[in-house]
Amino acid sequence: MLAAALLHCFSMFPGHADREGTEAYRARFPRLRDAGHFRRAGHVPGVDQLWLSSIGVGTYLGEPDEAADQDYTKAIITALRSGLNVLDTAINYRHQRSERTIGAALKQLIDRGQLQRNQILVSTKAGYLAFDENLPPDPRAYILEEYVEPGILDPSQIAGGMHAMTPAYLEDQIGRSCRNLGLATIDVFYLHNPETQLSEVSRDLFRRRLSEAFATLERQVQAGKLCYYGLATWNAFRLSPGSRDLLQLDEIAGLAEEVGGAQHHLRFVQLPFNLAMPEAYGFPNQGSERRQSLLAAASALGIAVIGSATLYQGRLTHGLPSFVRERLGLTSDADNAIQFSRSAPGLTTALVGMGHEEHVVANLRVAHAPPTPVGRWQELFQAS
Ligand SMILES: NC(=O)c1ccc[n+]([C@@H]2O[C@H](COP(=O)([O-])OP(=O)(O)OC[C@H]3O[C@@H](n4cnc5c(N)ncnc54)[C@H](OP(=O)(O)O)[C@@H]3O)[C@@H](O)[C@H]2O)c1
Repeated sequence: MLAAALLHCFSMFPGHADREGTEAYRARFPRLRDAGHFRRAGHVPGVDQLWLSSIGVGTYLGEPDEAADQDYTKAIITALRSGLNVLDTAINYRHQRSERTIGAALKQLIDRGQLQRNQILVSTKAGYLAFDENLPPDPRAYILEEYVEPGILDPSQIAGGMHAMTPAYLEDQIGRSCRNLGLATIDVFYLHNPETQLSEVSRDLFRRRLSEAFATLERQVQAGKLCYYGLATWNAFRLSPGSRDLLQLDEIAGLAEEVGGAQHHLRFVQLPFNLAMPEAYGFPNQGSERRQSLLAAASALGIAVIGSATLYQGRLTHGLPSFVRERLGLTSDADNAIQFSRSAPGLTTALVGMGHEEHVVANLRVAHAPPTPVGRWQELFQAS
């Protein structure tokens, strides 16, 4: 038993993204560096030391099967070899297979001496109950056996039959993610779409749950399991004032400060940002008088913003209006859609799902183009 546990520890890569590693990684790609592809989240304590690629690899879509595992592993290896050093996943993506493919890709490159652990930023998420490799024949029985009977989750803590963020559950999920990824430390750990709980629990209970989760995550940072944590959301920061599921980032950061002090580690938020969902920049729904966009609020609070669903899950790869191409200047619709997101002022990294190597190669074309200057980019909000 002890031997197995020790073996597990030794098979995990120690370390995390740091200044030295990300600087060395950036130096390997002078053309990308000179094109402004790598950036630092200058307003975020600690994160301001890291050089992060403007395009990151997402791992959400795809079938939970062997063929997709192999395609993803190949795509991730090519991405890491070519200048993309931000990887995003979640424990429930493809029933843990996406985390495991990241683990397999990292192992290949690090074992061959082609990559070092401190050169890359890996984020994952927990919240949705995750299965193992495949949807089990009886999902309820699986959850009971895997989580309820061992005392990890009390059924009363599961919202909507599928979401939880209690301390014991988060600790359990972080352990599983570390093993899947083969990493002793996760760079960024997100609570996954926590706003889904608001359809079931009161605001007060939701706040209490967040606060307990943040206290747990601060302890996980102290234990060396995480570097930073945050919220990965779908609706929470894009809704109109008055909407049930709208969250205020200043209140969220306030909860983190209550449990972690001024030096708390809630330093990342993730939300969709693309041509069809530009609210993070264009919609002032944050702050006491609802006059600030999410990007502006995050900048003031020292929080990095990561954009997800850059291609609106593939829908923006065709049929864009001509003024978009005129303003952004790249050739294909996919290129212009990625260029839009990665050029947003204040956005650190635009995540693009890339389960196939050919898409990594295509999207690297965009990485070689300088981001669109802010003035020209802002014209898109006036154009019609
Ligand atoms: N709430 C959340 O936490 C949340 C929600 C959504 C997304 N995310 C994160 O954000 C990442 C990106 O979002 P997403 O994957 O949902 O959607 P996306 O990035 O908008 O689109 C991904 C889709 O576009 C395809 N694609 C990529 N490059 C292409 C190109 N050059 N030409 C044509 N098609 C291309 C991909 O195909 P292949 O896969 O076949 O290469 C995939 O089907 C996710 O993977 C996930 O990591 C987080």
